[in-house]
Amino acid sequence: MKPIKNITIIGNGLMGCGCALVFAQNTDFNVTVKHRSGTRETIHERIRGFMVPLIDKGIYSRTESEAIIQRVHTEMDLAESVKDADLVMECIAENMQLKQDQFAALEPLTRPDTIYATNTSVMSITAIASKTIKKDRVVGTHFWNPPYLIPLVEVVKAYETSEDTMERTLDCLIRAGKKAIRCNKDVPGFVANRMQHALWREAISIVAHGIADAATVDEAVRSSFGLRLPALGPMENADMVGTDLTLSIHEYMLQHLENDPTPSPLLHEKVAAGELGFKTQKGFQEWDEEKIAESRRKLSEHLIKMLYDK
Ligand SMILES: NC(=O)c1ccc[n+]([C@@H]2O[C@H](COP(=O)([O-])OP(=O)(O)OC[C@H]3O[C@@H](n4cnc5c(N)ncnc54)[C@H](O)[C@@H]3O)[C@@H](O)[C@H]2O)c1
Repeated sequence: MKPIKNITIIGNGLMGCGCALVFAQNTDFNVTVKHRSGTRETIHERIRGFMVPLIDKGIYSRTESEAIIQRVHTEMDLAESVKDADLVMECIAENMQLKQDQFAALEPLTRPDTIYATNTSVMSITAIASKTIKKDRVVGTHFWNPPYLIPLVEVVKAYETSEDTMERTLDCLIRAGKKAIRCNKDVPGFVANRMQHALWREAISIVAHGIADAATVDEAVRSSFGLRLPALGPMENADMVGTDLTLSIHEYMLQHLENDPTPSPLLHEKVAAGELGFKTQKGFQEWDEEKIAESRRKLSEHLIKMLYDK
């Protein structure tokens, strides 16, 4: 297996810069961000911003942080940015045609063994590969935001992705320190978002039916199975309590859970009323700037503690 060393990231938004930071922390990799005209300066600035909580918590000194930031090369010319790439990862807008055209445009510019990875959150990898001639090289690499703090990357096998592409991609991500998992089928939501949104659907339904309010729903999660989850996933938990007990609980309860295949009317109402959450300081709950800053700080501190024990 030929190991991946040269990585080009196309797109310098939230995920593009965040993924660049993932690879720049490891001297095994050369990382280049392909950006649009007039945006070069924003890349290092943005990554510098990501570094602030890591410096504050003593993970990196300022000097170490700056050395990592300077390891991220920037390039505006597409051909120049990908000519030596072992792996090109697109982090451009979530638009099917843009992503299809981006990969098709790469083919005359890259080596035949260059892997094309897409960071789409929800779209079909097989459809994204459809305008590419050599489809066995296209793979999904679904990072989670912030990619330099959340360990998981779902490596998604599209219909024609080769085993070599899967293995080289998994190996690269593991060397970069990620928890890279295989998703063997190109299905909406891959593995983790299917479970996350099954939970969100039920949570919204509980609020919509007046069973509990939004803050109570979150407290119930944080103070019960949410505490166990980092150590005990649902499949191990099902074995721990017994498949027989799991079966009898499901026989009694599944029929009562939300199974609407469309978004909740309550969610539609919120959006129609302009109650968009943090963006408008009102969603399922009321927010002000202080509460929003506190929520973001709490999350960042929690992730750093989980990852670095600091
Ligand atoms: N934001 C998240 O939480 C998250 C999580 C996982 C995956 N994703 C996925 O990652 C991708 C990027 O999302 P984002 O949040 O970083 O979006 P973003 O809007 O922050 O960034 C997109 C960037 O791509 C640039 N761009 C667009 N076309 C380009 C091109 N042809 N060449 C170079 N740059 C180009 C834009 O200028 C912009 O900077 C999307 O597919 C998204 O669904 C996002």
